[in-house]
Amino acid sequence: MKNNIVLIGFMGVGKGTLARRLVRKDSALYALDTDDMIESLTNTKIKKIFATAGESAFRALEQKTANWLEKNVTNAVISTGGGFFKVQNINKIGTIVYLKAEFDWIYSRIVESPNAKKKLKKRPLFQDSEKARSLFNERYEAYEAVADIVVDMSAGDQETIADEIIRKVRSLQQ
Ligand code: S3P
Repeated sequence: MKNNIVLIGFMGVGKGTLARRLVRKDSALYALDTDDMIESLTNTKIKKIFATAGESAFRALEQKTANWLEKNVTNAVISTGGGFFKVQNINKIGTIVYLKAEFDWIYSRIVESPNAKKKLKKRPLFQDSEKARSLFNERYEAYEAVADIVVDMSAGDQETIADEIIRKVRSLQQ
């Protein structure tokens, strides 16, 4: 098993923030984000990819990113887009950590953040909160099914959650 830590979970649950926190705990680790990788690869914002090429083109870019990560990357904490868990080789990229939370917790986290408008604007699948809730309901069991580790994001502070992830990943990767 590759030693990467792959963070999966719904839009807005805090994958990117937690990845940055995790790499601060272990200087051997580097943080990568699949949405950022796709934006640099295509020199196009995710929102624009959805609007011009469509969602299926975006999913193909996610698969391409997954293939490259599997082949080339170690020692990374990889935060992923909310639909990335569906790539065929997800379990070959590293240890999969599902950041779990209820939809209402996620929604409040986004709307109560200081840059709420920006956070909503950049996410094409979060334009309508009821549609986003249905997507969440469609996905939540599938997230658990691919995960090696499940962490409840609403259970404590981020620092404690980060320590819990490091501890659980290390015991699995031994
Ligand atoms: C998506 C989540 C987004 C981004 C794209 C599609 C999804 O990432 O990849 O808009 O299908 O849930 P975040 O989870 O970082 O918002």
